[in-house]
Amino acid sequence: MPRSLRNVDVALRRAWHPLCRSSEATSQPRAFTLMGEPYVVYRSPSDGLRVFYDRCPHRFAPLSLGTCEGEKLRCAYHGWVFDAQGKCVEIPSLGPNATLPARAELSGPFAFAESHGMVFVAPESPLTPLPSLASDADPAFERGDLEPIVTRANAGLLADNFLDMAHFAFVHTGTFGAGEATEVGHYTVERDGYTFSAVYEHHFANREDPGVAAGTRALIQRRRLTYRYVAPYHLELALDFLDSGGTNVIGFFLVPVDDETVRIYSSIWRDDLEGSSERLREAIAFEVAVVNEDLALQSRYYDLALPLDITSEVHVKADKTTVELRRILRDLIDAANACD
Ligand code: FES
Ligand SMILES: [Fe+2]
Repeated sequence: MPRSLRNVDVALRRAWHPLCRSSEATSQPRAFTLMGEPYVVYRSPSDGLRVFYDRCPHRFAPLSLGTCEGEKLRCAYHGWVFDAQGKCVEIPSLGPNATLPARAELSGPFAFAESHGMVFVAPESPLTPLPSLASDADPAFERGDLEPIVTRANAGLLADNFLDMAHFAFVHTGTFGAGEATEVGHYTVERDGYTFSAVYEHHFANREDPGVAAGTRALIQRRRLTYRYVAPYHLELALDFLDSGGTNVIGFFLVPVDDETVRIYSSIWRDDLEGSSERLREAIAFEVAVVNEDLALQSRYYDLALPLDITSEVHVKADKTTVELRRILRDLIDAANACD
């Protein structure tokens, strides 16, 4: 069993990972890297989304430098042309009507899929499920996407940070943390395969509630935090304001780009903005500030690895979610290694 998990671990090839946003997949090829492997992504007019390794079988040139010609992709180096299934259909240097080498075809991941406005790939047969986000399909919610953030970080440590309930008052002093209690009360964690959910109901000072300013509601109110985690790096937090009403949802899709880099795709869902694009913009800017507070610390870790040996760190009661994260990732790595 590995004692810690780095961004590039071959066992993680047996899981679904986000590669890019749906909006980043266009009619021309683009390169996106996952765990040190570059992929080319484009949309063919009739076959839709296409994902291959970003490497031409001829001289391994990046296909993302090529050009889409309708259904087909032409390599920028010697002009070989590949159809939407990745089969080579033209080699200019051989002239017309030539017999093409059988091995002249593109290779790709085991599977790719598009859901929740994201493109996901499973490099090898996945052991984990594709994440699903209930609020994404709920018309009561408006969605706002943060611009992708690229940072020096470990994806496991970022997942740990997202699930952590004891850092708010210390890290988020410039955003929401000032009014947060430092003590974390009892909460429940329920594991289901390579996923878990955790529910924490507590009291907090709701300084943003107009009802408090108007004197119709007390400052100290009830709030429910519901965390949903799908291995390896899909995270969701729903905040239900039980007294003032309304739900805020924050989603995190982490791409382990290479050993020391993570691309963060984050979206928010709000059911309390009454269609105001101005308020949605403000909410996105606030969330960017929250993420930057986390990254100021997370990007400075000396060892970019998530410890999987539960005995190597010191845990307390508040850390139940992040201990569960380690257990699930350890089990996933063990299961993936056992498949080989
Ligand atoms: S490297 Fe792509 S055609 Fe030669
Ligand atoms: Fe945080």
